[in-house]
Amino acid sequence: MEKAFNRHRRLRRTDSIRSMVRETFLRKEDLIYPIFAVEGEDIKREVPSMPGVFHFSMDRINEEMDQVYKLGIPSVMVFGVPKEKDEVGSQAYCDTGIVQQAISHIKERYPDLTVIADTCLCQYTDHGHCGVVEEGYVNNDKSLELLAKTAVSQAKAGADIIAPSNMMDGFVAAIRKGLDEAGFEDIPVMSYAVKYSSAFYGPFRDAAHSTPQFGDRKTYQMDPANRLEAIREAESDIKEGADFLMVKPALSYLDIIRELKDRFPLPMVAYNVSGEYSMIKAASQNGWLNEQEVVMEKLTSMKRAGADLIITYFAKDVAKWLSE
Ligand code: PBG
Repeated sequence: MEKAFNRHRRLRRTDSIRSMVRETFLRKEDLIYPIFAVEGEDIKREVPSMPGVFHFSMDRINEEMDQVYKLGIPSVMVFGVPKEKDEVGSQAYCDTGIVQQAISHIKERYPDLTVIADTCLCQYTDHGHCGVVEEGYVNNDKSLELLAKTAVSQAKAGADIIAPSNMMDGFVAAIRKGLDEAGFEDIPVMSYAVKYSSAFYGPFRDAAHSTPQFGDRKTYQMDPANRLEAIREAESDIKEGADFLMVKPALSYLDIIRELKDRFPLPMVAYNVSGEYSMIKAASQNGWLNEQEVVMEKLTSMKRAGADLIITYFAKDVAKWLSE
């Protein structure tokens, strides 16, 4: 008699067969761990809305970095939380600013670790917007100059990769030009090409003290409803010289990751953002979800969707689990 259906379960019968036919793997090499550097002394302070994530002052940052290094995580993304903020975010491009200090400290002590600098102004401006504000509106072209300055000062401090996240038009071109003119032709740009105006950034804004003091970021970050616009954004950034593309957040935008990965031959980065982290933390602390299983499933899904690299606050846990 002719068989009326396929037996897919044959390939799921044993652990060994399942692992032989597995299509997607998460590796330590895929992980990028975000860390927060603050000014001051003797600070290791947990971010209230992000259990397990801390602010570190320079004199204690090694506590975190030693762990990251020992776990074999190849890369960190450094965020600075400055004490002083002003209208034009001067601390972002000050050669002795907190993020510059953190970058050079880390590169000195862990030279083979890849240090990525988030290049934005929102943590450094008193209004909390990602650029220069004029009459309540973020001025695109004036912001570009400051961004390029920020990128150059981060490269001078030793950053291996510049990751601009402020979503001004032309930011990749401006930064590429700034880096090239300063002699940093070999420093790649990891563009937050497709960054949505997302409610999932809430806990990060707590952590980085970067909530906009008026309005929102909808005139520069993307509308979550849009897919074609993501393609246009990515195309522009590639033309301007981006070396990596990023989609942010990750979980609600796996379709966008797949779409861009199929269209463009650049390494694809997914940012597993703060809200995605805190949701899982909260549910697992209540015993509602199994943290390890959920995290591994989620990050594997990002890779399956086409991400080559994942920026995640879970990086240390994942590296531990992978080596167990
Ligand atoms: C800076 C920046 C943000 C994040 C990374 N870089 C916040 C924002 O755009 O408000 C968010 C990261 C996260 O939520 O984990 N522009």
